Parts: sequence; C-alpha cells; structure tokens
Amino acid sequence: MKVFVTRTLPGRALERLRERGLEVEVHPGLFLPREALLKRVEGAVGLIPTVEDRIDAEVMDRAGPGLRVIACYSVGVDHVDLQAAKERGIRVTHTPGVLTEATADLTLALLLAVARRVVEGAAYAKDGLWKAWHPELLLGLDLQGLTLGLIGMGRIGQAVAKRALAFGMRVVYHARTPKPLPYPFLSLEELLKEADIVSLHTPLTPETHRLLNRERLFAMKRGAILLNTARGALVDTEALVEALRSHLFGAGLDVTDPEPLPLGHPLYALPNAVITPHIGSAGRRTRERMAEAAVESLLAVLEGREPPNPVV
Ligand code: DGY
Repeated sequence: MKVFVTRTLPGRALERLRERGLEVEVHPGLFLPREALLKRVEGAVGLIPTVEDRIDAEVMDRAGPGLRVIACYSVGVDHVDLQAAKERGIRVTHTPGVLTEATADLTLALLLAVARRVVEGAAYAKDGLWKAWHPELLLGLDLQGLTLGLIGMGRIGQAVAKRALAFGMRVVYHARTPKPLPYPFLSLEELLKEADIVSLHTPLTPETHRLLNRERLFAMKRGAILLNTARGALVDTEALVEALRSHLFGAGLDVTDPEPLPLGHPLYALPNAVITPHIGSAGRRTRERMAEAAVESLLAVLEGREPPNPVV
C-alpha cells in the first residue's frame, strides 16, 4: 500500500509508516509541479500534502478509489476540497496544537520587527548609513499600552494574547462567537476602530476571503499595524499596498496573496512591510511534531481507528 508524501519532512516520523509495511514515496524537490502531483498520487491509499499542494477532486480521482486519507501537514486545510473528499468517503486530517506556540512566536517577531523598524535598522547599519547616534533616528512604536486586536481567537490567537500581555499591551478580540476569556469581545468594525495592532488568526474560508477589504483596511486606525500569520487571501493585497503607503504604520506578513510573493511585487518596495516566506511553524521541533501528528492520523485511518485530528 502506497503513501505519497509531497515533500521531505524533518524528523523520523515517516519511519513509522515504513515499519508498518507501507511503501512511502517522498517527493524530494522544493516544488511539486501539478503534473507531477497528479502522476505521483496514482494508486496511493494515503497522502501527506503541504499547504502548497492543491488537493482537489482531480487529484483524488487520479489517486483512485483506494485513497482513504489525506493527512495534511498543516493546521490550515484551505488547499483541500473538503466537499470532494466527503463525497468520496476520504478522511481529511490536520495538525492543530503542535504549531501554536511557534506561530505565536513568529507573530510577535513580526510585531517587534515592524513596530521597532528592526529590518530597516539592520539594513541601515549594513548599508553603511550608521554614522552617528541621534535622538530621532528610526523612531518606532512603543508596545506598552497599545491595544492588540485579534481577529480569530483559537489556540494561536490566545497564545499571541498571552505574549502581548507580557509586553504590557491591552488585548481585544473578534471571533464568530464570544468565548469565556478575560478579553473584551468586539464586533469586527469596533475592533478595527480601537486596535493599534490588528492580527489575523482565522482560517481562510469563502466567508473570510478578503475579510480585510479596502474599506476595512482604511477603517483601521491611522498609524496602526497589520499582522498576518494566517492566510494571505484574508487581505486584499492591492488595497493593503495603498493603505501601507498612506494610512498604516506598517505590516508584518508571513503569508501573502499571491504566495510565493513574486520578485518585484510592490509590497517588497515598501520599507514598512516586513515579509517572511510562510515560516510561522518553522521551528525544527514543531515541524517534527507536525510530521508525527500527520503520520498518527494517517495510520489511524488506515488501521480503522478514529484519527486524532479529523477535519472530514
Ligand atoms: C499551517 O499549518 O496551516 C501553516 O500555514 C503551515 O504550517
């Protein structure tokens, strides 16, 4: 029985599959072109795809009727056609929990980088512009006392909130429904008006696609910061470029739309945008644990047990 893993994974989790007698095929490259994906899934009973692989009905049908489980190597599942999986009786699982702290850490890293102009400062020094100390050089925002508005208050949102409190920030949030948490719940419109920093932690669905459209980006406070470590398509990128030119203090973006963000994109030209290449969960141990979680779910389905992290 074949399991296709679309990239090499850190750690030894895949050994467990081999020990159970499964034939594990791993794509070794950085990219997996669509044609190659379609070819390599043929005959697989299980897939472990990354966020870059679009797993739709065509992929499922090319795998064939033996495909039983798609164990996503991610918490987000917007790259999988869940309805198509359901219709074919294919289980879909994901890796929540194990990447919470790493993603929250990176959110804070982006916040500090933007608020205190760390990337600009590092370039300033490296480029030989550092000639003197000056009271007005590279002034940024003091985090103490600022209001952080979290959109989405699942595990990652809550982990970011905890970190923000340690920096002396006030936390407010918006989610689909209020939760029993010690932070004020606001409507989206109220949050955008009140927050000095808006951070996105909500899944990408048809309902949240471009949640921050032009109107909402410009409804944010003048001089506010936007953080996105969730999914790029939650934000209207073109409008964000405009907002960064005229309205916002800056943005920290670990995810973009499109992704990868192509060389020459206007976002790269903005000194107040700090962009990282979707590395929110890229702690070594976190990435190993994601592999262990995906393998555990995959084996559970193949062995007829209920998987620990089912989506479908
Ligand atoms: C996820 O898990 O959804 C991240 O985007 C990649 O780790």
